[in-house]
Amino acid sequence: MSEIESWQDKLIRSLDKTQNDPVSRFFQLATVDRDGRPNIRTVVCRRFNSNAESIDIITDLRSEKCRQLESNINASICWYFAATREQYRLGCSAKIFHQYIEVTKIKHYWDKLPNKNRLHFFGAPPGQRLTSKDVLVVSNTDLPPPNFAVIRFRIHAAEYLNVSELPHVRILYKLDNHHWQAKPVVA
Ligand SMILES: Cc1cc2nc3c(=O)[nH]c(=O)nc-3n(C[C@H](O)[C@H](O)[C@H](O)COP(=O)(O)O)c2cc1C
Repeated sequence: MSEIESWQDKLIRSLDKTQNDPVSRFFQLATVDRDGRPNIRTVVCRRFNSNAESIDIITDLRSEKCRQLESNINASICWYFAATREQYRLGCSAKIFHQYIEVTKIKHYWDKLPNKNRLHFFGAPPGQRLTSKDVLVVSNTDLPPPNFAVIRFRIHAAEYLNVSELPHVRILYKLDNHHWQAKPVVA
């Protein structure tokens, strides 16, 4: 790639500059449902692997997003860093990991979760109508339940936008024969 800084290095720097702000780990994840309608929600970045060009999140395997990604692996991430006024839009494909596929990967994230967050995964399926019977009794949270999942997003296209100064900086990155090509464009 030319002398333009890679989106991976930019994202590493944005994460570095905002490391003390938990909100900077939230991003918007868009998926597509079976009718082709977009669905979007906020999730937490658990890991950005710049070498593998991937982002991991944790989720409930019974959630709508997993159903959608099972039928269409394409997803889009929009990540705004308020402190630096930078936006990343990432085109990606998703792979869902759960206990039956890769126990070690799952366990790594489970072990890092505080107990109060673990409890969340022992309840009724997300989206199910609330009933008074939904009282949570959990005796042991050492091991993740079967519905605890990790989604890994592999990034195949990126767009960087910086609106902190004028003129705004906007760069499109796309993979060409395994090499990233960067193209500055009008913001
Ligand atoms: C600040 C914030 C962080 C969230 N983080 C996650 C997350 O990491 N994983 C997740 O599955 N849902 C997370 N959620 C909940 C989702 O936004 C969403 O409501 C839920 O996953 C159900 O979405 P779905 O029905 O489209 O699957 C978060 C919500 C908020 C407001």
